[in-house]
Amino acid sequence: MSPNSGPHVLLTGANGFVASHILSMLLERGYDVTVTVRSQAKADDILRTHPSWTGRFAVAIVSDFTSAKPFDDLFHNAKRPYNYVIHTASPLNFNVTDIQKEMIEPAVMGTTEILKAAHHYGGSDMKRFVLLGSAVSVLNSFEDLSREGKPYTEKDWNPVTAEQAIERKDAVLGYNVSKKRGEEAAWEFMKQSSPVFDLVVINPDIITGPMLHPISGPKSVNETNQFAIKSFIDGTHKQIDGVMFPFYHFVDVRDVARSHVDALTNPAAGGQRILLISGLISPQLVVNIIRRAFPELRDRVPEGNPSQILPPGVHPTGWDMRVSLDILSQGAKDQKWEYIDLETSVISAVRSMIATKTIRE
Ligand SMILES: NC(=O)c1ccc[n+]([C@@H]2O[C@H](COP(=O)([O-])OP(=O)(O)OC[C@H]3O[C@@H](n4cnc5c(N)ncnc54)[C@H](OP(=O)(O)O)[C@@H]3O)[C@@H](O)[C@H]2O)c1
Repeated sequence: MSPNSGPHVLLTGANGFVASHILSMLLERGYDVTVTVRSQAKADDILRTHPSWTGRFAVAIVSDFTSAKPFDDLFHNAKRPYNYVIHTASPLNFNVTDIQKEMIEPAVMGTTEILKAAHHYGGSDMKRFVLLGSAVSVLNSFEDLSREGKPYTEKDWNPVTAEQAIERKDAVLGYNVSKKRGEEAAWEFMKQSSPVFDLVVINPDIITGPMLHPISGPKSVNETNQFAIKSFIDGTHKQIDGVMFPFYHFVDVRDVARSHVDALTNPAAGGQRILLISGLISPQLVVNIIRRAFPELRDRVPEGNPSQILPPGVHPTGWDMRVSLDILSQGAKDQKWEYIDLETSVISAVRSMIATKTIRE
């Protein structure tokens, strides 16, 4: 049940870090929203966290992403035909034992099964499918960090393979493969099946920022806020020397949400891969911001060497954002796309950790 009467959007994985912001923005902009989560308890958690959302969206439980039936049922049982799908649900947890089963299969099948269901049962009202992809399906996991390469563009694809990830038992590589294969499968499906709707894929790098998702303790902090920010406050890293990130560019979660909701109606977005990157992030940049903005946390946050922005010898390859910026601008309210900067993103993230008591004040 939803009092909103705008176009009907299906949002998957609504209890996630990013999807919570997307849901908030969809409701704010008057969309009629149905969300999927894996259990009723997770739906209840969303409403416990946001009591004011009660009655404002419908819920469908999809516990298994690797078979067609739940997705077929989702479209069969829709109270109104869906006009749009925003698919965000995908494993983002580096603590796995079986890379193939826990990461790659749900990411790829989650994407292909919902696309098939939208095609077969979505009807002629389905206009667009927006897939939350990742910069890791664009960048090269084996990038030579000792020298800056040619900037990445929307045309690049990560050469990483499932065999490499599995052989090395490397969960970060496994995640990269899961996102790349999920996106590839989506484009392949569009080519083979020519559905009535079009596809937009949004590819953000490391996402940071405030948390709106259900939080039940320090472990509920999402994976990227944890490794990029909280780990410098909670004692995980006692020094900056030797700390490396898997990637060195970020985007704020509010920009990720805005890009997805804008993409529903942006005429320039159809059939595009959109890169979403605000700027550089590094361990040193993050601690510089926390130590400056939160003097009360200073004794817990390592100082490092404030002027050594990147780890010694690290020269990450940049991103050519011209094409994506042009598309994002065309979808934005005043035809202008401006990114939230790192300082704002880190400060908002830490404030939300304090508010949710996931770090000690
Ligand atoms: N955070 C980043 O830096 C970043 C960057 C680029 C792209 N992304 C993409 O953004 C999306 C959301 O990430 P997030 O940061 O919001 O992570 P998150 O908070 O962990 O949310 C992930 C969502 O996906 C669901 N999910 C995970 N594994 C699933 C499975 N096997 N079957 C069904 N649902 C599953 C989760 O459900 P449960 O709560 O039930 O597990 C949750 O709703 C992912 O597609 C991720 O690849 C994230």
